[in-house]
Amino acid sequence: MTGIWRASSAGIRLSNQLSKCVCRCLGSSSVQPSKFVMKGIEEKSGKKMLNVTWQDDTSNAYPYIYLRDNCQCSQCYFKDSNQRLVDVVRDVDLNVRPTNVEMSEDGSKLSIAWPDKHETTLDADFLFVKRLPTEAELKDRVCEDVTTRKVNLWGSEFKDHIPHMKYHDILQDEMVEFEFLNSLYRYGLALVTDMPIQDGLVEKLGEHIGYLRMTAYGKTIVVSTRLQANSVAYTSYTLPLHSDLPYYEAKPGIQMLFCKEQTPTEGGENSLVDSFHVAQQLKKEDPGAYELLTTTHILFRTSGTDILGEYDLEGARPLLELDHHGRLLRCNHNEGCRLDFLGVPAEKIHEMYKAYYSLTKRLKDPKNMFLHKLSPGEMIVFDNDRVLHGREGYTLSEEGGRCLESAYIDWDVARSRLSVLGKRLGKGPVARMDSKLSVIGQWSVS
Ligand SMILES: [Fe+2]
Ligand SMILES: [Zn+2]
Repeated sequence: MTGIWRASSAGIRLSNQLSKCVCRCLGSSSVQPSKFVMKGIEEKSGKKMLNVTWQDDTSNAYPYIYLRDNCQCSQCYFKDSNQRLVDVVRDVDLNVRPTNVEMSEDGSKLSIAWPDKHETTLDADFLFVKRLPTEAELKDRVCEDVTTRKVNLWGSEFKDHIPHMKYHDILQDEMVEFEFLNSLYRYGLALVTDMPIQDGLVEKLGEHIGYLRMTAYGKTIVVSTRLQANSVAYTSYTLPLHSDLPYYEAKPGIQMLFCKEQTPTEGGENSLVDSFHVAQQLKKEDPGAYELLTTTHILFRTSGTDILGEYDLEGARPLLELDHHGRLLRCNHNEGCRLDFLGVPAEKIHEMYKAYYSLTKRLKDPKNMFLHKLSPGEMIVFDNDRVLHGREGYTLSEEGGRCLESAYIDWDVARSRLSVLGKRLGKGPVARMDSKLSVIGQWSVS
């Protein structure tokens, strides 16, 4: 230990100093007893980091620049919005080293003095949460998650288990709203029931959760047979399983389909499938196809005119999009607007189509896909990145037509609301990304 390191010997004097600092820096949360307690501190690794030993004799290393960057004082951190105020690149030397570091006698706080006279006080709990994995720990860690989100995969048996909630309950009861969004996050699907057949209800729900996603087709879209259709959606033809709008760079994450009128004739059912479940089957049964579909970009394009005017949209992405850990992020299957497989030589195109057939046949397999005929007053809401939807063709009749109202919400909006409700209702952190990978055991996602 060098001269600047004082632990319990300076404890009493330090505690007094800290109590002042606590009021200034840490607010009312500081009155809570610490869950984690430090046993000792020492300088390490060529004087570039601080080693903290915990009561159970495990230890973690904290590089100085990391400690300075994570100062929680009111000059450095804006607690109200969880944002950093300090501009480290401008104000802090990359090789900064404290002039003094002290641990409180009870091991609950660390006080650091910096060469520019700035002072940092950190709770043991905070330090524990911010601990960094070692290289060896990262090497041993295998990401076993199949998807970026923590989800429950399903097959056609899910037809009889779709989570359902009454429309007015979602609007009036936060617990029901939480269950609705959580079901959407977990299963990618929820059914909203008991909706009066009237205009504006889809928008009202969207604005209750946050806000709707505007697209080239407007805020809400009426899906019925049109005389001059600019999409197969506005005909009575069969629509194969697909994900909407893959030609958008920021593809809408959630789709709502409200049934106002259903055809009295045969047909008109919606087909639904959990593409992540099917992708997992493909990975096991046809790994070559999985590899091609996760690495080859497909160009998607559409153009036309709608209520907002003329549009011309294109985007390129793999059919099965993975995150940086190789977990499934999006399925972008859309037969209608699929244009080209990009960067595939003539010699390999057949293999590419073979992979495409291999996935698509599995998506349509009755063990994976099911049909649901919406009744007037029902709204199906699904994860557009995961649950593919289609429509069985139907015959137009004089007795009545088929009319759905559709709208989109971005996942950012829904995840934010889910997180806010989760905290408010004591459900813990939900819908977090990378929960297992960034910090060891930090979150146990419910
Ligand atoms: Fe669609
Ligand atoms: Zn600070």
